[in-house]
Amino acid sequence: MNDVYQRTVLITGASYGIGAATAREFGRRGAHVLLLARTQSALEEVARDIRASGGAASVYPVDLTDARAVADVARQVLAATGPPDILLSNAGAGRWLFIDETTPEEAVAMMAMPYFAAFYITRALLPAMRARGSGHLAYVNSPASLVVWPGAAAYTAARWALRGFVEAVRAELHSTRLRVTTIIPGLVATTYFEHNPGVLERVPELARRLLPVLTADQAASAIVDGLARGKREIVLPGMLRLLYAAYTVAPGLVQYLTILSGAKRSPDQTGR
Ligand SMILES: NC(=O)c1ccc[n+]([C@@H]2O[C@H](COP(=O)([O-])OP(=O)(O)OC[C@H]3O[C@@H](n4cnc5c(N)ncnc54)[C@H](OP(=O)(O)O)[C@@H]3O)[C@@H](O)[C@H]2O)c1
Repeated sequence: MNDVYQRTVLITGASYGIGAATAREFGRRGAHVLLLARTQSALEEVARDIRASGGAASVYPVDLTDARAVADVARQVLAATGPPDILLSNAGAGRWLFIDETTPEEAVAMMAMPYFAAFYITRALLPAMRARGSGHLAYVNSPASLVVWPGAAAYTAARWALRGFVEAVRAELHSTRLRVTTIIPGLVATTYFEHNPGVLERVPELARRLLPVLTADQAASAIVDGLARGKREIVLPGMLRLLYAAYTVAPGLVQYLTILSGAKRSPDQTGR
Protein backbone atom coordinates (compact mmCIF):
# COMPACT_ATOMS: atom_id res chain seq x y z
CA MET A 1 0.00 0.00 0.00
CA ASN A 2 2.72 2.48 0.93
CA ASP A 3 4.53 2.26 -2.35
CA VAL A 4 2.01 4.54 -4.11
CA TYR A 5 3.62 7.36 -2.16
CA GLN A 6 6.96 6.80 -3.88
CA ARG A 7 5.39 7.12 -7.29
CA THR A 8 4.79 9.69 -9.99
CA VAL A 9 1.33 11.20 -9.65
CA LEU A 10 -0.11 13.51 -12.30
CA ILE A 11 -2.91 15.74 -10.98
CA THR A 12 -5.07 18.03 -13.12
CA GLY A 13 -6.58 21.10 -11.47
CA ALA A 14 -3.66 21.14 -9.05
CA SER A 15 -3.52 24.93 -8.66
CA TYR A 16 -6.42 25.30 -6.21
CA GLY A 17 -8.89 23.44 -4.03
CA ILE A 18 -9.06 19.65 -3.86
CA GLY A 19 -6.35 19.15 -6.52
CA ALA A 20 -3.83 21.41 -4.75
CA ALA A 21 -4.53 19.81 -1.36
CA THR A 22 -4.23 16.29 -2.82
CA ALA A 23 -0.97 17.25 -4.54
CA ARG A 24 0.43 18.53 -1.22
CA GLU A 25 -0.72 15.34 0.53
CA PHE A 26 0.97 13.10 -2.06
CA GLY A 27 4.07 15.32 -1.82
CA ARG A 28 4.17 15.02 1.98
CA ARG A 29 4.08 11.23 1.57
CA GLY A 30 7.08 11.32 -0.78
CA ALA A 31 5.60 11.21 -4.29
CA HIS A 32 6.80 13.08 -7.36
CA VAL A 33 3.75 15.17 -8.24
CA LEU A 34 3.15 16.56 -11.73
CA LEU A 35 0.92 19.62 -11.41
CA LEU A 36 -1.38 20.67 -14.26
CA ALA A 37 -3.76 23.66 -14.50
CA ARG A 38 -3.81 27.08 -16.17
CA THR A 39 -2.53 29.35 -13.39
CA GLN A 40 1.27 29.00 -13.37
CA SER A 41 1.84 31.17 -10.25
CA ALA A 42 -0.57 29.03 -8.19
CA LEU A 43 1.02 25.80 -9.48
CA GLU A 44 4.49 27.12 -8.54
CA GLU A 45 3.24 27.87 -5.02
CA VAL A 46 1.93 24.30 -4.61
CA ALA A 47 5.23 22.96 -6.02
CA ARG A 48 7.22 25.03 -3.48
CA ASP A 49 5.14 23.59 -0.61
CA ILE A 50 5.65 20.04 -1.90
CA ARG A 51 9.43 20.46 -2.19
CA ALA A 52 9.55 22.04 1.30
CA SER A 53 7.77 18.97 2.73
CA GLY A 54 10.19 16.50 1.13
CA GLY A 55 8.39 15.57 -2.09
CA ALA A 56 9.24 16.39 -5.69
CA ALA A 57 7.08 18.50 -7.99
CA SER A 58 7.01 19.54 -11.64
CA VAL A 59 4.75 22.24 -13.02
CA TYR A 60 2.94 22.06 -16.39
CA PRO A 61 0.69 25.06 -17.09
CA VAL A 62 -2.00 24.09 -19.61
CA ASP A 63 -5.60 24.76 -20.59
CA LEU A 64 -6.98 21.22 -20.39
CA THR A 65 -9.89 22.02 -22.71
CA ASP A 66 -7.41 22.51 -25.57
CA ALA A 67 -6.79 19.05 -27.08
CA ARG A 68 -3.59 20.07 -28.87
CA ALA A 69 -2.14 21.74 -25.75
CA VAL A 70 -2.94 18.61 -23.72
CA ALA A 71 -1.21 16.38 -26.29
CA ASP A 72 1.87 18.68 -26.14
CA VAL A 73 2.00 18.59 -22.34
CA ALA A 74 1.58 14.80 -22.35
CA ARG A 75 4.57 14.50 -24.70
CA GLN A 76 6.64 16.68 -22.32
CA VAL A 77 5.57 14.54 -19.33
CA LEU A 78 6.41 11.28 -21.12
CA ALA A 79 9.81 12.62 -22.18
CA ALA A 80 10.65 13.93 -18.70
CA THR A 81 9.33 11.20 -16.38
CA GLY A 82 7.64 8.49 -18.46
CA PRO A 83 4.00 7.54 -17.88
CA PRO A 84 2.64 8.52 -14.45
CA ASP A 85 1.83 5.76 -11.98
CA ILE A 86 -1.35 7.60 -11.03
CA LEU A 87 -3.32 9.92 -13.30
CA LEU A 88 -5.79 11.92 -11.20
CA SER A 89 -8.19 13.85 -13.41
CA ASN A 90 -9.61 16.35 -10.96
CA ALA A 91 -9.94 19.67 -12.80
CA GLY A 92 -13.52 20.83 -12.99
CA ALA A 93 -15.76 23.85 -13.36
CA GLY A 94 -19.39 24.61 -14.05
CA ARG A 95 -22.14 26.83 -12.69
CA TRP A 96 -25.50 25.50 -11.58
CA LEU A 97 -28.04 27.11 -13.91
CA PHE A 98 -31.55 26.36 -15.11
CA ILE A 99 -31.72 25.47 -18.80
CA ASP A 100 -32.98 28.87 -19.94
CA GLU A 101 -30.27 30.60 -17.87
CA THR A 102 -27.52 28.65 -19.66
CA THR A 103 -26.12 30.14 -22.85
CA PRO A 104 -25.17 27.65 -25.59
CA GLU A 105 -21.53 28.74 -25.07
CA GLU A 106 -21.73 27.89 -21.35
CA ALA A 107 -23.27 24.50 -22.14
CA VAL A 108 -20.34 23.74 -24.47
CA ALA A 109 -17.80 25.03 -21.91
CA MET A 110 -19.28 22.79 -19.21
CA MET A 111 -18.85 19.78 -21.48
CA ALA A 112 -15.25 20.84 -22.22
CA MET A 113 -14.42 21.02 -18.52
CA PRO A 114 -14.49 18.43 -16.98
CA TYR A 115 -15.58 15.83 -19.57
CA PHE A 116 -13.42 16.60 -22.63
CA ALA A 117 -10.50 17.56 -20.38
CA ALA A 118 -10.63 14.07 -18.81
CA PHE A 119 -10.94 12.47 -22.24
CA TYR A 120 -7.96 14.40 -23.70
CA ILE A 121 -5.54 13.70 -20.85
CA THR A 122 -6.57 10.03 -20.69
CA ARG A 123 -6.21 9.60 -24.44
CA ALA A 124 -2.79 11.25 -24.37
CA LEU A 125 -1.31 9.15 -21.54
CA LEU A 126 -3.16 5.83 -21.64
CA PRO A 127 -1.16 4.21 -24.49
CA ALA A 128 2.12 4.65 -22.57
CA MET A 129 0.50 3.39 -19.35
CA ARG A 130 -0.88 0.36 -21.20
CA ALA A 131 2.47 -0.31 -22.85
CA ARG A 132 4.11 -0.34 -19.43
CA GLY A 133 1.34 -2.62 -18.17
CA SER A 134 0.59 -0.79 -14.91
CA GLY A 135 -1.00 2.38 -13.63
CA HIS A 136 -4.01 3.84 -11.89
CA LEU A 137 -6.54 6.21 -13.47
CA ALA A 138 -8.73 8.22 -11.10
CA TYR A 139 -11.47 10.73 -11.87
CA VAL A 140 -13.11 13.26 -9.58
CA ASN A 141 -16.81 13.52 -10.37
CA SER A 142 -19.83 14.89 -8.51
CA PRO A 143 -22.91 13.50 -6.71
CA ALA A 144 -24.75 14.96 -9.75
CA SER A 145 -23.40 12.01 -11.74
CA LEU A 146 -25.73 9.80 -9.68
CA VAL A 147 -28.68 11.87 -8.49
CA VAL A 148 -30.21 14.87 -10.27
CA TRP A 149 -31.47 18.14 -8.80
CA PRO A 150 -33.10 21.19 -10.40
CA GLY A 151 -31.14 24.22 -11.62
CA ALA A 152 -27.95 22.49 -12.81
CA ALA A 153 -28.85 21.04 -16.21
CA ALA A 154 -25.66 21.50 -18.27
CA TYR A 155 -23.49 20.76 -15.21
CA THR A 156 -25.38 17.50 -14.60
CA ALA A 157 -25.22 16.41 -18.25
CA ALA A 158 -21.43 16.94 -18.29
CA ARG A 159 -21.03 14.89 -15.08
CA TRP A 160 -23.07 12.05 -16.60
CA ALA A 161 -20.82 12.23 -19.66
CA LEU A 162 -17.80 11.96 -17.39
CA ARG A 163 -19.34 9.03 -15.51
CA GLY A 164 -20.07 7.23 -18.80
CA PHE A 165 -16.52 7.85 -19.96
CA VAL A 166 -15.01 6.49 -16.75
CA GLU A 167 -17.12 3.32 -16.95
CA ALA A 168 -16.02 2.93 -20.60
CA VAL A 169 -12.36 3.29 -19.58
CA ARG A 170 -12.97 0.62 -16.93
CA ALA A 171 -14.50 -1.69 -19.53
CA GLU A 172 -11.61 -1.15 -21.98
CA LEU A 173 -9.05 -1.92 -19.26
CA HIS A 174 -10.93 -4.94 -17.93
CA SER A 175 -8.31 -7.54 -18.81
CA THR A 176 -5.28 -5.37 -17.93
CA ARG A 177 -3.44 -4.60 -14.69
CA LEU A 178 -4.49 -0.94 -14.84
CA ARG A 179 -6.91 0.26 -12.16
CA VAL A 180 -9.74 2.79 -12.43
CA THR A 181 -11.23 4.77 -9.53
CA THR A 182 -14.18 7.19 -9.36
CA ILE A 183 -14.03 9.84 -6.64
CA ILE A 184 -17.26 11.51 -5.53
CA PRO A 185 -16.92 14.25 -2.93
CA GLY A 186 -19.93 15.87 -1.26
CA LEU A 187 -19.42 19.47 -0.18
CA VAL A 188 -15.80 20.63 0.14
CA ALA A 189 -14.87 24.22 1.13
CA THR A 190 -12.73 25.31 -1.84
CA THR A 191 -12.42 28.11 -4.36
CA TYR A 192 -15.01 26.25 -6.50
CA PHE A 193 -17.77 28.45 -5.12
CA GLU A 194 -15.87 31.68 -6.02
CA HIS A 195 -14.95 30.32 -9.44
CA ASN A 196 -18.57 29.24 -10.10
CA PRO A 197 -20.85 31.85 -8.51
CA GLY A 198 -24.35 30.90 -7.40
CA VAL A 199 -23.64 27.19 -6.88
CA LEU A 200 -23.76 27.25 -3.08
CA GLU A 201 -27.20 28.88 -3.08
CA ARG A 202 -28.61 26.00 -5.15
CA VAL A 203 -27.35 23.07 -3.06
CA PRO A 204 -30.49 20.99 -2.33
CA GLU A 205 -31.73 21.34 1.26
CA LEU A 206 -31.30 17.57 1.76
CA ALA A 207 -27.53 17.86 1.16
CA ARG A 208 -27.26 21.14 3.08
CA ARG A 209 -28.84 19.56 6.17
CA LEU A 210 -27.19 16.12 6.05
CA LEU A 211 -23.71 16.58 4.60
CA PRO A 212 -20.92 18.02 6.72
CA VAL A 213 -18.72 20.40 4.69
CA LEU A 214 -15.20 18.95 4.41
CA THR A 215 -11.99 20.95 4.22
CA ALA A 216 -9.85 20.42 1.13
CA ASP A 217 -7.24 18.74 3.37
CA GLN A 218 -9.81 16.24 4.70
CA ALA A 219 -10.90 15.43 1.15
CA ALA A 220 -7.26 15.09 0.04
CA SER A 221 -6.36 12.72 2.82
CA ALA A 222 -9.40 10.48 2.07
CA ILE A 223 -8.53 10.52 -1.65
CA VAL A 224 -4.87 9.59 -1.12
CA ASP A 225 -5.77 6.83 1.37
CA GLY A 226 -8.48 5.47 -0.97
CA LEU A 227 -6.12 5.44 -3.96
CA ALA A 228 -3.42 3.73 -1.89
CA ARG A 229 -5.94 0.98 -1.10
CA GLY A 230 -6.85 0.68 -4.77
CA LYS A 231 -10.53 1.42 -4.10
CA ARG A 232 -12.86 1.32 -7.08
CA GLU A 233 -14.98 4.17 -5.68
CA ILE A 234 -14.13 6.83 -3.13
CA VAL A 235 -17.30 8.53 -1.86
CA LEU A 236 -16.85 11.13 0.89
CA PRO A 237 -17.87 11.95 3.56
CA GLY A 238 -19.47 8.90 5.25
CA MET A 239 -22.92 10.55 5.18
CA LEU A 240 -22.78 10.75 1.36
CA ARG A 241 -21.90 7.02 1.31
CA LEU A 242 -25.04 6.45 3.39
CA LEU A 243 -27.19 8.51 1.00
CA TYR A 244 -25.61 6.64 -1.90
CA ALA A 245 -26.51 3.32 -0.23
CA ALA A 246 -30.08 4.58 0.32
CA TYR A 247 -30.21 5.53 -3.37
CA THR A 248 -29.14 2.02 -4.37
CA VAL A 249 -31.97 0.52 -2.28
CA ALA A 250 -34.67 3.12 -3.07
CA PRO A 251 -33.56 5.22 -6.07
CA GLY A 252 -37.02 6.70 -6.69
CA LEU A 253 -37.42 7.95 -3.11
CA VAL A 254 -33.95 9.53 -2.83
CA GLN A 255 -34.31 11.13 -6.26
CA TYR A 256 -37.76 12.49 -5.30
CA LEU A 257 -36.47 13.99 -2.02
CA THR A 258 -33.50 15.55 -3.80
CA ILE A 259 -35.73 17.21 -6.39
CA LEU A 260 -38.23 18.29 -3.73
CA SER A 261 -35.49 19.95 -1.65
CA GLY A 262 -33.70 21.51 -4.65
CA ALA A 263 -33.75 25.02 -6.12
CA LYS A 264 -37.20 26.37 -7.03
CA ARG A 265 -38.49 29.14 -9.24
CA SER A 266 -41.93 30.61 -9.69
CA PRO A 267 -43.43 30.02 -13.17
CA ASP A 268 -42.58 33.57 -14.33
CA GLN A 269 -38.92 33.36 -13.23
CA THR A 270 -37.13 32.75 -16.51
CA GLY A 271 -34.07 34.22 -18.20
CA ARG A 272 -30.80 35.22 -16.52
N1 LIG B 1 -15.78 21.68 -3.91
C1 LIG B 1 -16.80 20.82 -3.88
O1 LIG B 1 -17.71 20.91 -3.01
C2 LIG B 1 -16.89 19.71 -4.90
C3 LIG B 1 -17.91 18.77 -4.73
C4 LIG B 1 -18.01 17.73 -5.67
C5 LIG B 1 -17.12 17.64 -6.72
N2 LIG B 1 -16.14 18.60 -6.85
C6 LIG B 1 -15.23 18.48 -7.99
O2 LIG B 1 -13.90 18.44 -7.53
C7 LIG B 1 -13.02 18.93 -8.55
C8 LIG B 1 -12.11 19.99 -7.96
O3 LIG B 1 -12.93 21.07 -7.54
P1 LIG B 1 -12.47 22.15 -6.48
O4 LIG B 1 -13.55 22.23 -5.47
O5 LIG B 1 -11.08 21.93 -6.06
O6 LIG B 1 -12.61 23.47 -7.42
P2 LIG B 1 -11.63 24.73 -7.63
O7 LIG B 1 -11.09 25.16 -6.32
O8 LIG B 1 -12.40 25.70 -8.46
O9 LIG B 1 -10.45 24.11 -8.51
C9 LIG B 1 -10.66 23.75 -9.85
C10 LIG B 1 -9.34 23.39 -10.50
O10 LIG B 1 -9.58 23.08 -11.88
C11 LIG B 1 -8.66 23.84 -12.67
N3 LIG B 1 -9.23 24.16 -13.97
C12 LIG B 1 -10.44 24.72 -14.26
N4 LIG B 1 -10.56 24.93 -15.58
C13 LIG B 1 -9.40 24.50 -16.14
C14 LIG B 1 -8.90 24.46 -17.48
N5 LIG B 1 -9.64 24.91 -18.52
N6 LIG B 1 -7.67 23.95 -17.70
C15 LIG B 1 -6.91 23.51 -16.67
N7 LIG B 1 -7.32 23.51 -15.39
C16 LIG B 1 -8.55 24.01 -15.13
C17 LIG B 1 -8.41 25.11 -11.86
O11 LIG B 1 -7.15 25.66 -12.18
P3 LIG B 1 -6.88 26.97 -13.08
O12 LIG B 1 -8.01 27.92 -12.84
O13 LIG B 1 -5.55 27.43 -12.59
O14 LIG B 1 -6.83 26.44 -14.49
C18 LIG B 1 -8.35 24.54 -10.44
O15 LIG B 1 -7.08 24.04 -10.15
C19 LIG B 1 -13.93 19.47 -9.66
O16 LIG B 1 -14.05 18.52 -10.67
C20 LIG B 1 -15.26 19.66 -8.94
O17 LIG B 1 -16.35 19.61 -9.81
C21 LIG B 1 -16.01 19.62 -5.97
